[in-house]
Order: sequence, then C-alpha cells, then structure tokens
Amino acid sequence: MSNQFDQKSEAWSARFSEPVSDLVKRYTASVFFDNRLAQCDIDGSLAHAEMLAHQGIISLADYSDIQRGMQQIRDEITSGKFEWLLDLEDVHLNIEKRLTEIIGDAGKRLHTGRSRNDQVATDIRLYMRGAVDNIAGLLHALRLALLDLAEKNAEVILPGFTHMQVAQPITFGHHMLAYVEMFGRDAERMADCRKRINRLPLGAAALAGTTFPIDRERVAKTLGFDDVCRNSLDAVSDRDFAIEFCAAAALVMTHVSRMSEELVIWMSPRVGFIDIADRFCTGSSIMPQKKNPDVPELARGKTGRVNGHLMALLTLMKGQPLAYNKDNQEDKEPLFDTVDTVIDTLRIFADMAGGITVKPDAMRAAALQGYATATDLADYLVRKGLPFRDAHEAVAAAVRACEQKGCDLADLPLADLQGFSRLIEADVFGVLTLEGSVAARDHVGGTAPNQVRLAIARLRTEIK
Ligand code: ARG
Repeated sequence: MSNQFDQKSEAWSARFSEPVSDLVKRYTASVFFDNRLAQCDIDGSLAHAEMLAHQGIISLADYSDIQRGMQQIRDEITSGKFEWLLDLEDVHLNIEKRLTEIIGDAGKRLHTGRSRNDQVATDIRLYMRGAVDNIAGLLHALRLALLDLAEKNAEVILPGFTHMQVAQPITFGHHMLAYVEMFGRDAERMADCRKRINRLPLGAAALAGTTFPIDRERVAKTLGFDDVCRNSLDAVSDRDFAIEFCAAAALVMTHVSRMSEELVIWMSPRVGFIDIADRFCTGSSIMPQKKNPDVPELARGKTGRVNGHLMALLTLMKGQPLAYNKDNQEDKEPLFDTVDTVIDTLRIFADMAGGITVKPDAMRAAALQGYATATDLADYLVRKGLPFRDAHEAVAAAVRACEQKGCDLADLPLADLQGFSRLIEADVFGVLTLEGSVAARDHVGGTAPNQVRLAIARLRTEIK
C-alpha cells in the first residue's frame, strides 16, 4: 500500500511515518549521476523479465507489456523527453515507476525475484564492460598512431637520458616503441579485468538469493556474461572489479603522464626536440610569444584525479561488512569520471601523435653534447682485451680531458686518445659516432634502427 508522502513511497516507504527531509532526499539520491546507467538498466530488466516469463513466474503477456513499455522509455530517454525525478532516488526507481505508468501492473511485477542491490551491480558491470571495450579500442588506436610516428623517425637520433643526464644515443623510433609496449600492457590489463567484470550478479537479489525458481544462466547468456557470480553476498557487495579497472586506468594515465612530461620538456624552446601542432596548444593572454603544450600538461594533471579515484574506491570498500551497503552508491562518480577522463585522454593522444613534428637537428646537437658515446669507447676497449672496469676508468679520464678542452670524445685527435689507452687505434672513430653507437645495439630490444624496424614489423602484425 502506498502512503501520502512522496512518489518513492510505492518503492519502499509504506512502513515510514514521516517523509524524509529535502536535504536527506538530495543527499541519498543518485539519479542525477546514475542515469547514465539507464540503457544498461533497461537491458538488465528485459533479460530478467524474459527469464521470469520463460520460468512461468510472470505471464508472457506481462513480458510483452514490459518490452513495449521499455522500448518507449528508451525512446524517451534518447530523445531527452524522459523526466528524471529526484523524488524517485535513482535510475532504477525512475525507470520502474515510469514503466508502471505506461503499462500498469505488469510494471510492478518486473521486480519479482530481484533487488536494486543485484540490479545495480549488474548495471555497473554492463556499463563497465562497454567502457573497457571502448578503452581497449582507443589504446589500439593510440598504439597504431605511435607506431606511425616511430616508423617515420626510426633512425632519428636523440640523447637517451638517465637521471635526466645525457646517457647514450638512442633512436626516436625506439623511444616511441617504449610507449607502444607500455600501452600494450595496459590493453592486456583491460582485457584481464574484463574477465572478472563479465559475471552476472542478478539472482543474488538483496543478498541471500530468491525464493523464485529463477534461471540465472539464462539471464547471463542473454546479457552476454561469461558466468554468474557464485555467491549472492559477494555478488551484491563487492566492487573489486571496479577497483581493478581503476587501477588499470591509473596505469594508463600514468603512462600518458610520463609521455606528457617528455613532450612538455621536448617542446620547451630550451630543448626544442619537437613541435606540437597548434590545435593541441594554446597561447597566453599576456605573453604574445607563448605557445603552451596544454594538452600534455592537462593529461599529466588529470592523472592525479584518476589516481585519486582509485584511492577513493579502495577506501570506500575497506570498511564495509557484507553484504550491500549504501556506501556503494559512491562508487559511481569516481568510476564514471575515470572512464570519461581515460577515454578523452586516449582519443586526444592518438590524434596528437599525428601532430608531433620531430626536429632531428636539435636532437642530434643535444646528443653530441654530454659524451653520449663514452660507453661505446669503453666497450671498444673491452673488445680489445681490457677488463671493463679498467676501460671505464680510462674513458672517464678521457671525458675529463674533453671537459677541460670543451670538446667531444670524437673531437680528440687519435694521439690524445691513445694517451688514455694504448689499445686505441684509428678504427675507434667508428664507435664514437652517434650512428655507430646506435647501430651497434643490434639485438632484440636494442635501439639500432635495424631493430626498430623489426620491432615495428612485429608490432604491426600484433596490433591489427
Ligand atoms: N542507488 C543504489 C546504488 O547505487 C542502488 C541500490 C540501492 N539499494 C538499496 N538497498 N538502497 O547502490
């Protein structure tokens, strides 16, 4: 029996003797953010209703009314005509109430053998499955864009850094392929968490299961789930799949953020390794000369909020006794914002990769400063029979001499070089050049242009 208080009364408030205050209503409602689950909610309801009819729990006529009503609701939602009511708390009650308005009693039978607890868990999983598939596609596109950039610049040499100090020459193609690897692992993580997302909670009802003769496998099959959640308490209460997703998303953003940091540094006029197309940059309102790499900077910044969402969900979960608690309603905003942020960021980055212009001359000039081929000289001496530690010492002395003279190792005359080791001969200049240095690292995972091309070919068959 419904009471006089509010529209929600039909859902649960017949046992209450006073209405909730407006503030409490607003505080407990989720409809204005969980309405993004609407289409998933309808999919879940239709699969549930189909099963109820198949099992003889509701009539076929009821099922057909439910189908008709839901189709109308879908249309109302897509055309923006659906009226979301705060009084009806959440997406589930809003849709159910409207269904009943349209089709009458059959609408009231839909919730048989079901609770909002297993309903919402199902909706989130359906929603996340779509999000994960979307993100997987975007990671794929980004990797292809980076592969193109790597291929175009396979042989361009720049200094590789450790501790932000010039370390050894590397090829730009190789540098880009490092990110292709990272985003590849991100795609693996997304695919892996999808397995645990794709299990059906429906049938758990509020927490203990239902007294009706339901067929959970049937619903799972209709909705494309790989399996059903095996324990009803677990099914309604845990959100570990969402946390896992957020962890994978935080890693995606962390990789994007590291790349962003490099793009920002590379675009600084002091470095000048790259230019980023104007459409990804902005100017300054006061300094007319400025062109700022806003997109990578923002991506670096947004990584903070995605990392924060992971922490929010972990914290949300940690104190909850089994089974469902209203705390779980708080999973949605962090989750949705994570999905939105990752999707926008990946889309923009895949696009921006095509707008990066590499400046080989600046990269080369930088690689020529900082004795980037010192390790090559040490390796040369080792090949001539000197133990590596002694070779290291000899080259360190040569670098010190260069510093005093203000020149590079390759600029020292042979006679001077021989002063550091009698093993040095005229062929040394072959290893002191940048080209010689990168070409020599010709093994799987090495920076040689030859290896970069092989890696690109392998990745092209892998990322189809
Ligand atoms: N809006 C709720 C949520 O997001 C739906 C489940 C509500 N269940 C309940 N017993 N109050 O979690």
